[in-house]
Amino acid sequence: MENQANQVAQLLTEIHCALETRTTIPVVQQTLDKLSLLNFESSPVPALAPQMPAQFEAGLDLAVENIPASLDLLTQALKGAKPYLYWQPDGGQFYEEGSDVGCSYREGNMICTLVGPQNSFFYSNDLFICLFFLQSQTLYRDHMHEASEMYFNLTGPCGFRLGEADWADYPGDSLVWNRPWDVHATRVYQAPFLSVVSWVDNINGLCRVAPRDDWLALEDKLATH
Ligand SMILES: [Fe+2]
Repeated sequence: MENQANQVAQLLTEIHCALETRTTIPVVQQTLDKLSLLNFESSPVPALAPQMPAQFEAGLDLAVENIPASLDLLTQALKGAKPYLYWQPDGGQFYEEGSDVGCSYREGNMICTLVGPQNSFFYSNDLFICLFFLQSQTLYRDHMHEASEMYFNLTGPCGFRLGEADWADYPGDSLVWNRPWDVHATRVYQAPFLSVVSWVDNINGLCRVAPRDDWLALEDKLATH
């Protein structure tokens, strides 16, 4: 599937270009440094049979349509790569055993790993880059991990709760940096959420939920709006 590798490489190139002006944020610079070291031609990863959960097809299309014009080249590359992508739900494999991620997240997410140690298009053991999709009205509960993390949000508005701060909304074409072990949560309103997420350093660590007493109320509120 040479075309698959080419299209995903093109998408990564456009992600790189879009982020080049934001390198004052350390995790962005680290992501680009590691991405630059990848040789797309000589990363022999077996082709992945494209996979797309049917229930998210319309939501993903809508998310792609909602990406702002400032990211036009990235959007075009994403449309080119879309038929080749391998999406899978995070069913808890990124979490410590028994983590209470909640039904809203479990049934509302999918991940397409572009670069990483497994199920990726390009192999790396010290960089993880994925497309991360959450359907509308989803709560991604407060959690933390050892890796330093970048959210390059392609769509918005979406809410983030960072540490003890109150919720704040972010537009499409925005960045969030979660330092190692910073607690963070995401909530998705009517517009489905699509973000480029990267992990640098200690990328094989697992996520740990950070319990809050308002999860059920937040999930109820999102579900009824
Ligand atoms: Fe995270």
